[in-house]
Amino acid sequence: MTQELTSPSPAPQAPGTGRGPGWWRDAVIYQVYLRSFADSDGDGIGDLRGARERLPYLKDLGVDAVWLTPFYASPQADGGYDVADYRAVDPLFGTLQDADELIRAAHDLGLRVIVDIVPNHTSDRHPWFQDPELARQRYLFRPGKGESGELPPNDWESVFGGPAWTRTDRGDWYLHLFAPEQPDLNWDNPEVHAEFEAIMRFWLDLGVDGFRVDVAHGMIKAPGLPDIGHGAQAQLIGAQVLPFFDQDGVHAIHRAWRRLLDGYGDARGKQVIGVAEAWAPSAERLALYVRPDELHQAFNFQFLNAPWQSDALRSVIDASLAATASVGAPTTWVLSNHDVVRHTTRLGGSLARARAATLLMLALPGSAYLYQGEELGLPEVTDLPDEVRQDPAFFRGGRATGAVGPGTDTESAPDGAAAGGQDGFRDGCRVPLPWSGELPPYGFGPGGSWLPQPADWGGLTVAAQTGDPASTLELYRAALELRRRLPGLGDGPMSWAPAPDGVLALTRPGLLCTVNTLGHDVGLPAPGTPLLSSAPVTVDDATAQLPGDSCTWWAI
Ligand code: BGC
Repeated sequence: MTQELTSPSPAPQAPGTGRGPGWWRDAVIYQVYLRSFADSDGDGIGDLRGARERLPYLKDLGVDAVWLTPFYASPQADGGYDVADYRAVDPLFGTLQDADELIRAAHDLGLRVIVDIVPNHTSDRHPWFQDPELARQRYLFRPGKGESGELPPNDWESVFGGPAWTRTDRGDWYLHLFAPEQPDLNWDNPEVHAEFEAIMRFWLDLGVDGFRVDVAHGMIKAPGLPDIGHGAQAQLIGAQVLPFFDQDGVHAIHRAWRRLLDGYGDARGKQVIGVAEAWAPSAERLALYVRPDELHQAFNFQFLNAPWQSDALRSVIDASLAATASVGAPTTWVLSNHDVVRHTTRLGGSLARARAATLLMLALPGSAYLYQGEELGLPEVTDLPDEVRQDPAFFRGGRATGAVGPGTDTESAPDGAAAGGQDGFRDGCRVPLPWSGELPPYGFGPGGSWLPQPADWGGLTVAAQTGDPASTLELYRAALELRRRLPGLGDGPMSWAPAPDGVLALTRPGLLCTVNTLGHDVGLPAPGTPLLSSAPVTVDDATAQLPGDSCTWWAI
């Protein structure tokens, strides 16, 4: 149920910049995992043309911007996060002209476009790594330990499992925090800095509105590359500062990039942004990435990892808002992406919780990222046969949930808000989208799909959900429409209101949001007129019944 509302008030000024309101401060940004979004040529892999053709769907959904995952020339050892040429489009995804046309078409629709930049590592097929002389200067080579250098230089483990070092034919070793096909760059070398600034300018000249900075916490390693002395390093990622993650030195790089982005934008009267993918151990350390002279946004993975419990959610929201407020930045909320178990499955396999969590997220102050398919309520696919799996972590026995950050696992998630998923690897959240029809590939493209889609997704397609007011797709559309029209949603103040145990109540200007995290109805005095709810809410004699696992927005 919606009602006519007044027009939005102007967004607040971006503190300390003098550049007017920052569009990014409350933007809803939709992640297009390109190979699984829409396929135009029938090879079963999503591509730039397919994405361009579907832009009107995203406009209609009501998002402000699109983040495209890497489409650069790559051997695809890690879904394109192994880049061999940062200025070329991989033929799998199309051509540079296709990228250009997509950016123009998005802008014509009023959508901004963010692209990935991958600065921690390149592909081992990158010309720099292929040239032994250049490679020694621009990557991290070290002699091995042991009598004949047969042992790795230190005890660091790859995020994808196994040692973080591979020995070359020449006998020395190179560092790869991810797959062996992803050698880490040497950011002590000024040529590396210059190259990435040039790459950014290349894409900015093509019109992009910003960059999602991959592994933004990884480029600088502790001097001397010291041992960690802990056998299960995966448990430490995101839980503490490590000699290879969240080193203070990374901030100088982000400051330089902010100067570049601001300078570029100022000269053209636009705002181009950087968003950090940084797995920092605390809200305070994450906030360092969004100080006024650093990047604009940083994904809040602490929120993503929070269990479905009112106290836990409240404390993570408080900590996040306090930390970002201390540096004048907005908080950037996210519940799903291509590296984690989809939140429908992660939150106990409950679509009701997923819908409620999304409405909560969209009621919070700041910006939010949506991952393709969450607007359809897609669950994680949990029965992929081994022979179709492509996640390099699956083959190296690495992290089970979350490639680069701490996963929610069954033991640590207090109320059973389990990781779920098949075994935590990342193919299950990357299955191509169902657009229409009763059978795979559900309109994904004229051919098949690179990962098999479940046989029972016919009811989840965009076509099946469109126009059905009870569908998750229409819930997202209604929420995004209200977010655009309600004064004070997005960037702005928030406070908590009294609520019974297990229930959260937060107020924004003109709106109250209730979240019942319990599995059963809770009654309370009706706080206003219901505007939108993730599950049918009833109001009788001024008493509201909040369904279990639901979120409601009330006009107050
Ligand atoms: C990306 C992952 C990727 C890893 C290595 C992450 O930040 O999101 O998909 O495997 O970086 O590039």
